[in-house]
Amino acid sequence: MKKIGVLTSGGDSQGMNAAVYATVRSALSHGLEVYGIYHGYTGLIGGEVRRLDAKSVEGIIHKGGTVLGTARCPEMKTPQGRQQALQTLQRYGVEGLVVIGGDGSFQGAKVLSTQYGVKVIGIPGTIDNDLAYTDYTLGFDSAVAVVVNNVNLLRDTMSCNDRTCVVEVMGRDCGDIALHAALACGAEAVCVPEKGYHPDDLAQLIRHNAQVGKKDNIILVAEGIRSDGTLDKGHEADKVMKDILQRLPDLNIRSMVLGHLQRSGDATVFDRKLGINMGVHAVKCLVEGKTDRVIGIHNDVVFDEDMLEALAKQKHFDDSLYTLVGALAKY
Ligand code: ADP
Ligand code: F6P
Repeated sequence: MKKIGVLTSGGDSQGMNAAVYATVRSALSHGLEVYGIYHGYTGLIGGEVRRLDAKSVEGIIHKGGTVLGTARCPEMKTPQGRQQALQTLQRYGVEGLVVIGGDGSFQGAKVLSTQYGVKVIGIPGTIDNDLAYTDYTLGFDSAVAVVVNNVNLLRDTMSCNDRTCVVEVMGRDCGDIALHAALACGAEAVCVPEKGYHPDDLAQLIRHNAQVGKKDNIILVAEGIRSDGTLDKGHEADKVMKDILQRLPDLNIRSMVLGHLQRSGDATVFDRKLGINMGVHAVKCLVEGKTDRVIGIHNDVVFDEDMLEALAKQKHFDDSLYTLVGALAKY
């Protein structure tokens, strides 16, 4: 193999740039030519390709977002789109591809491998931490840090006003961001899809806290808590607030959605190191002739695993952490 490509796809996440940096520099050190594909599969189909050298990835390790740009690309799910994607790879002579994204992006990579023989390696880039095969995905740690820092700020005003605030965080159908942030910022309650949504319990908790003199509460809710489709994304916090007000009409309460802030700002040191280690490992896989592998981390060790086997795994929810959050929040 002489030429490889790298692209970022789906929702961006902190640590993607570190992975791009390491993929490029490591590939160059192996004597490979590296091509950056811009805006994910959209750029692959449209031919947005540029050769990258060491200078191209200078000063990017820490940056949020992705210097390659990203996109969601419905055309990649069509035979015509995939054919065009292949033609771009052939035009540049790219035989191996590092795809940095979530499970959807990995499905796209798998198609390129199965149908056209392109060697593909996936690096898990998503703040959601919703991939079962790896302890952590790139960006999760940074997103949790953003939530914790912002809730710390919120506490100032909420506590002096004796207010409760419902704060909605991202994660799609996964509650990991809410759960880990709740622990680290000492939230009074956390609602995650894995445990269901119980407004009566929330009202009971707020009532109890008030009785013992604790009148400000932070309630972290994961955006996926209610998947009944009655509201658009980004409105769960409002809905939860209304449900609580129905039960406690006089409560001093506000709601907010942290939204895309969670994908912004510098990557944490953890995500930078994870991105670098995963990028280096991905290139090693390609150099060894491997394909259809995804990179993960388990107990601090970076590994590669068969893509389909990895994607078939069921995500495990950390019940003990959930219980701990509840226990530590008790007044
Ligand atoms: P993520 O990679 O973060 O899970 P998406 O699910 O939006 O994000 O997927 C990113 C992109 O991957 C999609 O916009 C599409 O281009 C591609 N993709 C997703 N699923 C498939 C599929 N089954 N076949 C081909 N490409 C896919
Ligand atoms: O998958 C990452 C993620 O940030 C989810 O947490 C969120 O639901 C979604 O992407 C938001 O997507 P968009 O950037 O398209 O609004």
